[in-house]
Amino acid sequence: MSSSRAEPFDAISVISTKRDRGRIPDEQIDWVIDAYTRGVVADEQMSALAMAILLNGMAPDELARWTRAMIASGERLDLSGVRRPTTDKHSTGGVGDKITLPLAPLVAALGAAVPQLSGRGLGHTGGTLDKLESIPGWRANLSNAEFVAQLNSVGAVICAAGDELAPADRKLYALRDVTGTVEAIPLIASSIMSKKIAEGSAALVLDVKVGTGAFMKTPEDARRLAETMVELGTAAGTHTVALLTDMNTPLGLTAGNALEVAEAVEVLAGGGPPDVVELTVALAAEMLAGAGIPDADPAAALADGRAMDVWRAMIAAQGGDPDAALPVARDKHVLTAPATGVLTRLDAYAVGVAAWRLGAGRARKEDPVSAGAGVVLLAKPGEQVRAGQPLMELHADDPDRFARALEALDGGFDIGEQAGWSTPPLVIERVSA
Ligand code: URA
Repeated sequence: MSSSRAEPFDAISVISTKRDRGRIPDEQIDWVIDAYTRGVVADEQMSALAMAILLNGMAPDELARWTRAMIASGERLDLSGVRRPTTDKHSTGGVGDKITLPLAPLVAALGAAVPQLSGRGLGHTGGTLDKLESIPGWRANLSNAEFVAQLNSVGAVICAAGDELAPADRKLYALRDVTGTVEAIPLIASSIMSKKIAEGSAALVLDVKVGTGAFMKTPEDARRLAETMVELGTAAGTHTVALLTDMNTPLGLTAGNALEVAEAVEVLAGGGPPDVVELTVALAAEMLAGAGIPDADPAAALADGRAMDVWRAMIAAQGGDPDAALPVARDKHVLTAPATGVLTRLDAYAVGVAAWRLGAGRARKEDPVSAGAGVVLLAKPGEQVRAGQPLMELHADDPDRFARALEALDGGFDIGEQAGWSTPPLVIERVSA
């Protein structure tokens, strides 16, 4: 929608400055984000600017101003009515990444409040809301008043972000998606941090994924993204740290909505795959330290059922039945090991694409997802397997989906001879201000 007010700047000058590797002046940054949100700057102009930023980067203070302008495009949540210290986590997205599900109730069980605004999945990585929506009755949309009330009563909320939170990012992210400009580090960092800072949590832990199943394929790029986001968060007054964590192989043994909820419940019951437990505990310790509760013992709260109690209350508060049976896909296909040896590689991207093709993910944001679809891993890297032994189960409502999922998995794992194979570290590095 165009406006009749006189505009103080024009988009072509802003684009030309960045095209010529200049620094965009503060007032022009504020204007271009606001004018784009109002529809005065056109999509094709913002595309050109996004591409110029991808190619030429942004200075740190320029990016801080850009992020501030994105936050100012919408409302900032007011958490002043929350009586506990607030702390949140954001993951840059991976395969089998269900960590938010046990993590939020765990951290709440130890005295902090976790205000987690989440999204739905697009592409090969799943979305937390899609996972929780596989629980019968659970609803993702809460009013601001319900959000604050639940933070006080239960201590943890996972719900959908409203349209008022950083609307400039919603528009710009959709544009980047179709113009080859998603991968720009300044644009990823400002996109994530504008939403997280607007959410109003006092502390934030970033789980920056590295590897084949992640946005960032190399530790160098992941470190640059982590440092950029930590700097933005710190400058905005949010206590921010980041962990770089491995995403070359899926987390845990499941990728798919209800399958991942079931695995998260196992972790909350004191069991579950060791890598999911390890990362949940590591991130909980960081979130609690950021909230000023450094001596809490997250592993104990998982083992003794305190986190499970909060999970049940959190699900029930949003209409869900924590005791209801989870949806199960109608068909199953078992993929067997073609050789005997050690499973030396199981590629996260291949498993993510397979789960997506089975129906767990969506290609367009309005597509439905299948709650029961996905992949169950029956072996993880480092384990000995025998030819003919089941390696993975594929779950789908429609058996026609198996062929394309199997294509995605072709070449997605290696079985070798290696003696002395050791699991690479899950937490690679910590980045703080
Ligand atoms: N997630 C976001 O919210 N924004 C990006 O740009 C990339 C991942």
